[in-house]
Amino acid sequence: MKSLRLTFNEHGKPNEVLRLEEHEVPSPGEGEVLLRMLASNINPSDLGTIGGSYGTLPSLPAVAGLEGIAEVEEIGHCTSGLKVGDKVRIPSTAGSWQNLICTKAANLKIVPKGIPAEQAGSAFVNPPTALLLLRRIVDLNPGDWIVQNAANSAVGIAVIQVAKKLGIRTLNLVRREELTKPLINLGADVVMLDDDQAPKNFREYTEGKVPRLALNSVGGNSAYRLCKMVIRGGTHVTFGAMTSEATRFPTRFLIFNDIELKGFG
Ligand SMILES: NC(=O)c1ccc[n+]([C@@H]2O[C@H](COP(=O)([O-])OP(=O)(O)OC[C@H]3O[C@@H](n4cnc5c(N)ncnc54)[C@H](OP(=O)(O)O)[C@@H]3O)[C@@H](O)[C@H]2O)c1
Repeated sequence: MKSLRLTFNEHGKPNEVLRLEEHEVPSPGEGEVLLRMLASNINPSDLGTIGGSYGTLPSLPAVAGLEGIAEVEEIGHCTSGLKVGDKVRIPSTAGSWQNLICTKAANLKIVPKGIPAEQAGSAFVNPPTALLLLRRIVDLNPGDWIVQNAANSAVGIAVIQVAKKLGIRTLNLVRREELTKPLINLGADVVMLDDDQAPKNFREYTEGKVPRLALNSVGGNSAYRLCKMVIRGGTHVTFGAMTSEATRFPTRFLIFNDIELKGFG
């Protein structure tokens, strides 16, 4: 059966290195299934993978896209546990930017019925990242504050929603004022512009409380500002780098405030 896929054979800018290819997909053999993609994500890590800057890179040529949901279209011999029409998470190494995938049936995760494909397709990277950031870095208690930059990102929104459920208060930094109301509606406690005023003024909005944890997915001056918004002995964790600038930190805050700098990946 003919299928289309977006592949790259060298690293570079997506518009320069991605190629749309038609190729023949085999019928599923023993222990295999044929999957039809329903929803494929575009995550920043996809751009890093295509560009060659991501931590783990596939061997080339590769099909682009790490996350997506597919429907089982055809089942090969000796394939137990899956039915035609089941929605599954595709293996992360298969490449989600394609129409059809013939792959091993073992270890495919079935998505519970009733979850829209678009929602399931973006459920496996960013929401679990938010949960782990809030649960595994610092032992946070209900009522504790955290601060994050890029609060309107997919991870940032998941952090706001998960924190709300856990009773953790969120101080959210964004680049545009019009994001304030939508983020408050999603459960954000405080939204501020990510500028040099934020470290000076934030206590006015947090009842004088200072966050125990800072979540940095930006880098550069934004990461520097976050260090100034963490309590003495608090933790600053970097899990993304949306600007290409190096993560910076104010030395005196490390020395006199004993801030711990960590990474998460
Ligand atoms: N370590 C892990 O396990 C892990 C897991 C998931 C994601 N991540 C990382 O987390 C980050 C966010 O991912 P996502 O999928 O949530 O992103 P996303 O939904 O695509 O959102 C991107 C965010 O980055 C901001 N941004 C873009 N360029 C910027 C710049 N030059 N300076 C400052 N802010 C900028 C955007 O703000 P505007 O709207 O103002 O442009 C937006 O808030 C990425 O770096 C991703 O790789 C890491």
